[in-house]
Amino acid sequence: IGLGDGENFAASDIAAMVRYTNKVIHLNDNELASLTRDNFSISTAQAKHISRPTETVEWLPEEAEKNGFPHFMLKEIFEQPETIMNAMRGRLEISEGVPKLGGIIPVWEDLKKCRHMVIVACGTSYYAGCVGRYIFEQLTDVDIEVELASEFRYQKLNFPPNTFILALSQSGETIDTLAAIKEAQRKGARLLGIVNVVGSLISRETEAGIYNHAGPEIGVASTKIFTSQLTILTLLALLLGRHHNLSLTEGVTAIKALMALPDQVRQVLAQDNHIQAVAEKYCRCSNWLFLGRKYGYPVAMEGALKLKEVSYIHAEGYAAGEMKHGPIALINPDMPTVAIVPRDSMYEKMINNIQEIKSRKGPVIAIANAGDAKVKELADDIIEIPETLEYLSPILSVVVCQLIAYHCARFLNRDIDKPRNLAKSVTVE
Ligand code: G6P
Repeated sequence: IGLGDGENFAASDIAAMVRYTNKVIHLNDNELASLTRDNFSISTAQAKHISRPTETVEWLPEEAEKNGFPHFMLKEIFEQPETIMNAMRGRLEISEGVPKLGGIIPVWEDLKKCRHMVIVACGTSYYAGCVGRYIFEQLTDVDIEVELASEFRYQKLNFPPNTFILALSQSGETIDTLAAIKEAQRKGARLLGIVNVVGSLISRETEAGIYNHAGPEIGVASTKIFTSQLTILTLLALLLGRHHNLSLTEGVTAIKALMALPDQVRQVLAQDNHIQAVAEKYCRCSNWLFLGRKYGYPVAMEGALKLKEVSYIHAEGYAAGEMKHGPIALINPDMPTVAIVPRDSMYEKMINNIQEIKSRKGPVIAIANAGDAKVKELADDIIEIPETLEYLSPILSVVVCQLIAYHCARFLNRDIDKPRNLAKSVTVE
């Protein structure tokens, strides 16, 4: 509940109230609040009075304004250089090649010995988790899984000792993610969170965690939190990796590459006009395919999700290796494919996929590294991203996908910040 001056508020998310007040009180399960204009009271379901101190939210009211942008979604896309920086601020120890993450100190002794971890999340946070899985495989010795919270909670759970569940959630209120971690805890798992909203349910239910510090995300379709989550997942993996087998050189290389990201995201954002032109060219196509491999695969899924959410265009995100098992049957001149093809370990195979699409006269929009002549020759349109470490490239390629979705939605006059039927915080099943 939010406490104002001559006004009080109730909401499922602080972001909805931050424009009016920064004084909040969080309710726990099975508690009741009664609000009037000037007063409030909290009680248990058995009518026992509860007194609880007010918390002050650090978000500023102007963070909940559009600041000259036509939509929150576009504002939040353009905030990413800062939100990525905020995710790293005070957390990098360059000379040691090790991040510092104060929020996990309470569980650190067990966490550094952890060899089995499960990431659980929903929606965009789940796709961030899918990238996170590859990052953990690359940097740590942890045996890692990623699960949709809504499925995980119904599985027969059987964890090796010292298993950590890592919940990813922007709102910290998503019911399935919350239920999944509670179920895992019941079965003996330890709980960690990466959450944006300070004081939210998931942040309170987990033993320790890392905040995004990305400010309120108001657009229903999540954008800046995805890249912030990837940044923090990298920090966490790097920290664990440096206590496993990762060398000092690899640690320092990772930190330098992380520090270069905000400027590299700015370079992607600088192509907004070009991306808008590409969106204009294809926004009337009713079906799109997004293809990627390894790190590009979750980006393809997130790109398709973003397009569906805000433009209502049907889009599928696919692992490019699966194209032959179905989606290739759909390829025709009216179905654009967004191919995520940075010059990485999957490059040659992605080139083959692009050739297969072109030979079936499907238009290809390639997200590739700057100056890639081979892709330029093959693709109908190319949007360039700077070079970075393979495991950081999703942070750059996804920004292109976000802008494609945004501009398609704008050309189609959609209600971008509040797409039909969608909610920012999904607090009911
Ligand atoms: C809703 C939102 C999505 C979000 C998902 C998970 O579907 O519209 O943008 O990715 O919930 O939310 P969370 O707050 O747990 O990250």
